[in-house]
Amino acid sequence: MNKIVLTILMLCSALFAVAQKQLPLIPQPQNVIAKTGTFAMPKKLLVCVADYENDSLKMVVDRFALQLKESAGVKTKYTKYPTRSVMDVRLNPNIKPEGYRLEVENEAIIIEVSSPAGVFYALQTLKQLMPKEIMAGAALAAKAKIEVPCVSIADEPLYGWRGFMLDEGRHFFGKDEVKRIIDLMATYKMNRFHWHLTEDQGWRIEIKKYPKLTEVAAWRNTKKLGWGDEYPTDGEHYGGFYTQEDIREVVAYAKERFVEILPEIDMPGHFQAALAAYPELSCTPDEKHEVWLSQGVSADVMNVAAPAAVQFTKDVVDELTALFPFGYIHLGGDECPTHKWEHNDLCKQRLAAIGSTNFRDLQTDFYKQVQDYILAKPKAEQRKLIFWNEMLHGNTAELKDITVMAWIGADNAARVAAERGFDNILSPQIPYYINRRQSTEPTEPRSQGHGHETLERVYSYVPAKGIAPELLPRYKGVQANFWTEYVFDNETLEYLTFPRLIAVAEAGWTVQSQRDYAKFVERLNQHVPFFDLIKLSYGKHVVPVK
Ligand code: ACM
Repeated sequence: MNKIVLTILMLCSALFAVAQKQLPLIPQPQNVIAKTGTFAMPKKLLVCVADYENDSLKMVVDRFALQLKESAGVKTKYTKYPTRSVMDVRLNPNIKPEGYRLEVENEAIIIEVSSPAGVFYALQTLKQLMPKEIMAGAALAAKAKIEVPCVSIADEPLYGWRGFMLDEGRHFFGKDEVKRIIDLMATYKMNRFHWHLTEDQGWRIEIKKYPKLTEVAAWRNTKKLGWGDEYPTDGEHYGGFYTQEDIREVVAYAKERFVEILPEIDMPGHFQAALAAYPELSCTPDEKHEVWLSQGVSADVMNVAAPAAVQFTKDVVDELTALFPFGYIHLGGDECPTHKWEHNDLCKQRLAAIGSTNFRDLQTDFYKQVQDYILAKPKAEQRKLIFWNEMLHGNTAELKDITVMAWIGADNAARVAAERGFDNILSPQIPYYINRRQSTEPTEPRSQGHGHETLERVYSYVPAKGIAPELLPRYKGVQANFWTEYVFDNETLEYLTFPRLIAVAEAGWTVQSQRDYAKFVERLNQHVPFFDLIKLSYGKHVVPVK
């Protein structure tokens, strides 16, 4: 082969490689056509935004404009008349609420949506096509040019629920870290933050009617939660909680990023901290109860047959309803031993009164009383209830329209829930509990759960695989969970969460036929500069992936 032919061949293969290079988009949009050319961002961008309810489309664009100005010194000027060098945001009622179309052309960026959420997601995509400083809110070098590759994208999410749960009962991270996580969720188009606010080991939300929850139940005498002799407690006075003002601040912050917050009050199990404050809610009111210093599943549970416990729950639901505008509240229901109930007169009487011999039915009977109370409220104050999938072990016939969060034996539990006519959310312990180690490296931090879940395993989980088409409408989405028994610093929390949360984000957004691990890794590697700019602690041995 002569030199000229060889050079031509090498050039062709280089061009082919460029053409094949994945755009750095996560989650992968449903339809992407890469085109030739770029849109050169001018120093003054003309923006035209369709009129919409209370200027709510424009408010989303305003926040993007501020980021452009702060990072790159690009000023925006609103105009009624789209011309050249313009960003034009148009309404198209045929697009689904979270969907969007994005056309980047040489002379214009055209966005079509039917709602503010659509613009938000179109702009998240657009930012991923720009220098990573814009996504990171960092300053771009003064001379740097922003060249957006021309592209045609039509996109919408696969699922309406793309969630992340953080356990702050075991360890408390505070609102700055929570906001940072919400920002990262929104960057990757996740939209549900499940706030696990109570545990055996700590109660983290101010409830005005029960002040001892934050005076007593939010504090304990160890930072490290004991686990046998190998992991002793440390005696440190430890705790914290969110005031109602803090909660409102975080809810508003999340709302601006199109993230709804699902509060969880875990009961009747995982409730020991509350019993330390209010022993009358337990099966043994005369005994001393303490905020738990250990890990595990405590046998000291709420007495669901005590009228005071039912009233407590109704009162807590009232305060949650006022604080969280989202249409759902999570009332736990996982890992609740019935031993204490089996030896309690009130429980035995109640079980006889409802005509059952299955102590688990006391739990559903308790929840039914709470649900009846909620359904008697004015429509705007009603909330749907979510429970962990152990709920399915009791008689659920009396409960209306609940959602089952499937974690243990998740695929089977989700299908059973759907067959019973309940919605479900898939948060399978394996592989979506991203508190588990992410490799076999000896440098992995100590974390909850044996074994490990690699990025590839998390990515490769296929939600609703093989499910009959008639049940699919019950499958509302996916969620990663993070339990914090061993994790109490932001660095470890982020290290284990990332990049695996981003793999779950893609499972929630992108249809299976568009998902491919090798291509995901190629796109993810292009996000490393972003992670570094925001000083994210992430699995550096995982990304960049060779
Ligand atoms: C759970 O992991 N106990 C929901």
